[in-house]
Amino acid sequence: MDRFVVEGGHPLDGAVSISGAKNAVLPLMAASLLTSEELRICHAPRLRDVMQMGRVLAALGVHADHKPDGTLVLDAGGVSSVHAPYEEVRQMRGSFMVLGPLLARFGEARVPHPGGCVIGFRPIDLHLKGLLALGAVVTEEHGDIVARAPDGLQGGEVFLGGPMGSTVTGTINVMLAATLARGETVVEGAACEPEVADVASCLIAMGAGIRGAGTPQLVIEGVEELRGATHTVLPDRIEAGTFLLAGVASRGGRVTVQDCRPGDLIALLDALRQAGVQVERTADSLSVEGGQPMRATDIATHPHPGFPTDLQAQWLAVMTQADGNALVEERIYPDRFNYLAELARLGAKIRRSGPRALSMGPVRLSGAHIMASDLRASASLVIAGLVADGETSIHRVYHIDRGYERIEEKLCALGGVVARKRDSDPGDREDVLESAVQVEADAEAFPTRHEVIT
Ligand code: EPZ
Repeated sequence: MDRFVVEGGHPLDGAVSISGAKNAVLPLMAASLLTSEELRICHAPRLRDVMQMGRVLAALGVHADHKPDGTLVLDAGGVSSVHAPYEEVRQMRGSFMVLGPLLARFGEARVPHPGGCVIGFRPIDLHLKGLLALGAVVTEEHGDIVARAPDGLQGGEVFLGGPMGSTVTGTINVMLAATLARGETVVEGAACEPEVADVASCLIAMGAGIRGAGTPQLVIEGVEELRGATHTVLPDRIEAGTFLLAGVASRGGRVTVQDCRPGDLIALLDALRQAGVQVERTADSLSVEGGQPMRATDIATHPHPGFPTDLQAQWLAVMTQADGNALVEERIYPDRFNYLAELARLGAKIRRSGPRALSMGPVRLSGAHIMASDLRASASLVIAGLVADGETSIHRVYHIDRGYERIEEKLCALGGVVARKRDSDPGDREDVLESAVQVEADAEAFPTRHEVIT
């Protein structure tokens, strides 16, 4: 199992280019199932989650080839199964998005219930509600969700707003399925995240009829079949926000986040403005001077365009350096605070009560051994390690590889001191086995992949 060894206190200075969005490339990969022609996804990031989705698709008979220039070529002309295997699906919730396209194209799909994850309860009731509205028959058999539509899907109307807001993957699962349904489908309460609109624009290039993507009312006009296409995935707004916040927390230096979409980060930019942080913006970049005085500023997470839950942990890490008390309220995943105890090990002064955490700053952080628990928590710990005095070892850093492409290389290019080490800690023995199996499986998933994780 790998760990990051971070030497804190080095100012970050320079420009960093943002990779393609994880939460768009995963559904785009699932969309390849909708056609027997080749789908080419340009600017696809090399992430563990992309490899994992590649393994799920390979088990269904889809061929995937991630070329050196970042183009991911997917060919679902030879799909041999509509049953996604448990051992692959259980590793990543996003795999559940193969359900809609398999059902739409083949009239049947069997996908294991994705279960929960460390950030909280992750239901799928809205996914199923949408497919039922399209005329599917859905049963649960031995832990699998089995969806059937022997006579094909029929367009319908459905409200996908849930008690905690809309579901991104649920909206996309239903949108994928509706592209091949007979007639019109209207999704009310659709998720408005930029990734939904990006997937819709790819589907339109494939021949789908879609209106209102990115708004709460999504209208899909079903077609007989879809063709192949070439689509460039949008930049990852969460990676962009993460690097911007690392620059904000840096003691000096100036970080420019380039090849990004500032318009996707309005809520973060507004919170930084309230904190008194000056951010310069162009059409495709954001720049910030490190070490600016910061006022502690409260945030609450919301569906887009609200403050993203995927930047909540990174924001709180930065607020440990702000003057005063900052309240962070998590309204999407109330338990998404596993990282607080680790920040406290670095000296942060934090209180938690249910879905709220309070940071009392500023505090001088000092390096220590800490443990990553999930993808975005890992990014929060890296930001804290970059600020802390001395050396911070972040264990189980495989979490961060799920969603950030070569993050340590990008941070080092900015002047950070971050080294990836192989963890020999016996306490992580089972992780070592998992990691070894994972690396081996990764190598298989893309046999033509041009770099092997060593
Ligand atoms: C997407 O997950 C993202 N993942 C998550 O990013 C992100 O945190 C989340 O949206 C919220 O923005 C991908 O796009 C692959 P949800 P998604 O579980 O769509 C409720 C990351 O770090 N809900 O649908 O799966 C649910 O309880 C990951 O990149 C239902 O009630 O999010 C939650 O409160 C973590 N019923 C809210 O909706 C359902 O059927 C959204 O959660 C589904 C969801």
